[in-house]
Amino acid sequence: MSQNRSSDELTQPQIEDLCRRAIAAAHNAYAPYSRFRVGAAILLEDGAIVTGCNVENTSYRLTTCAEQNAIASAVTLHGPHIRIRAVVIVNLNSAASPPCGACRQTIHEFSTPQTEIYFPSSDGTFTHTPMRDLLPSAFSLT
Ligand code: THU
Repeated sequence: MSQNRSSDELTQPQIEDLCRRAIAAAHNAYAPYSRFRVGAAILLEDGAIVTGCNVENTSYRLTTCAEQNAIASAVTLHGPHIRIRAVVIVNLNSAASPPCGACRQTIHEFSTPQTEIYFPSSDGTFTHTPMRDLLPSAFSLT
């Protein structure tokens, strides 16, 4: 049962649906250099779901992360006022993949105090953390 679930957390069926979509996106990853295939599924506040995968480049620093590609697609498809309810991150390498620092700042841009991030952690579990705890001192001009 979900008696101990905070209202910010997703239900198990929601998590499973987002995981399936993130895994499907990860299968499209272009990662010939690292071979690390990442997928992200973003649930927007209005219920829309958008996915992304990492896209590498032979000029390594031009690589884009799954989370950032998903957010770029979300803005492209749904406009500049999107708010992120949750992000689910997976990889096909059975490894930990919390969002990198740059992705945290990008997710922060469209987050609310309720935004939750789900990812495979280094202890082998699939865990979740409020976005505000992943980047407590985010850069802001305002
Ligand atoms: N990567 C992501 O897609 N998301 C992250 O948050 C961290 C890293 C990708 C970038 C690169 O293609 C591969 O993982 C290895 O760093």
